[in-house]
Amino acid sequence: MDTKTGHIETEQEKSHGEISKPIDAAVIDRIRADFPTLHQRVHGHPLAYLDNAATSQKPHAVLEAIEMYYRKDNSNVHRGVHTLSQRATDAYELARKQIAEFIGAGSTREIIFTRGTTESINLVASSLGGMILQPGDEILISAMEHHSNIVPWQLICSKMGAVLQVAHVTEDGELDIQDFRSKLSKKTKLVAITHVSNSLGTINPVEQIIADAHALNIPVLLDGAQAVPHLQVDVRDLGVDFYCLSSHKLFGPTGFGILYGKESILDRMPPYQGGGDMIDQVDFSGTTFNELPHKFEAGTPHIAGAIGFAAALQYVEKVGFDVIQRQEADLLAYATEGLSSISGLRIVGQAQEKASVLSFLVGKSHPYDVGSILDRFGIAVRTGHHCTQPLMKLLGVPGTVRASFAFYNTRSEVDRLVEAVGQAGAMLA
Ligand code: ALA
Repeated sequence: MDTKTGHIETEQEKSHGEISKPIDAAVIDRIRADFPTLHQRVHGHPLAYLDNAATSQKPHAVLEAIEMYYRKDNSNVHRGVHTLSQRATDAYELARKQIAEFIGAGSTREIIFTRGTTESINLVASSLGGMILQPGDEILISAMEHHSNIVPWQLICSKMGAVLQVAHVTEDGELDIQDFRSKLSKKTKLVAITHVSNSLGTINPVEQIIADAHALNIPVLLDGAQAVPHLQVDVRDLGVDFYCLSSHKLFGPTGFGILYGKESILDRMPPYQGGGDMIDQVDFSGTTFNELPHKFEAGTPHIAGAIGFAAALQYVEKVGFDVIQRQEADLLAYATEGLSSISGLRIVGQAQEKASVLSFLVGKSHPYDVGSILDRFGIAVRTGHHCTQPLMKLLGVPGTVRASFAFYNTRSEVDRLVEAVGQAGAMLA
């Protein structure tokens, strides 16, 4: 059996429709064989990588696609008649097509390549915000946003004299939908909300959010960075206007991401950055711009990033979201139960709908101290405010310890986490 290609399919067929049943451990073992980083020791212990919300590990298929591009086709895109440039351009534009299909976009014209979710949001804030905002207009976000879905809006609001409105989040870490609705008005020019909270794992009711906003003709941007590793997203089914995501959270390379935008809106938006590739004709008296999507892509892009990301999406499709969701749901439930048994441990974020992200505090211990002890046991978690300082302030916590699971994690890693957190709690008491 080839562990790098089609080995999941039989299990995937078998597992179809059985979301609640744990995945056979042998299947997860075979998946783990695809991820070289997972097989190492840290401080003398086998690595338990539970920091997938920060970044995910990369399968062989991604590493090989990137290496093959640099070994064989390395050349600039859209710029050469020579064979290598044509091969690079073909691979790069094929990646755009595969990415469009993966998220259900109507056309490759709607897929803008960026450096990641942060740049995708900045692009919309700067280009659309600069085009539509008038003094007194409002942008509506939520209190659970990552800094990258707060600060770009603050910058453009301050430039245009607009106001940033913030919908409340409950103590359980859910969006207060009534408060959200009460803050939608004629002044609201855009809603920008995370699909899944990076700190708490909350899955937001995005269909409802989009329906409420669209009822008032307000466009919606979703920060999908933490959603796409866990949920099968179809932007056309959602009807969302903008969807932002990062390759590196979805088993692809860092420094590459996507802005999906409806063509009808992107077409009207001015360029974000100036430079090569985004132009049609340049003259000292003025410049005309390239068509979509290139109008928003100035300079030599991250070609290997696009190719590596397309390989990651192919890999994810082979594993299948049914397998991914069953495994992650099992790990989340198992870890929630295990950690809850530790005296003095408090789980932060208890939304009804959660992705496999588990934030917690142990007694009065500082998250950093707990994380440092876990590292000595070979367990990688993230500690701190997770780039959501306003949310931490609202919840009255200094930060959290955050374990975030991918489909390649196992119950035995969760057992080690629970054991080590218990020991850390005792050491720090
Ligand atoms: N936004 C990433 C996280 O939540 C880095 O860890």
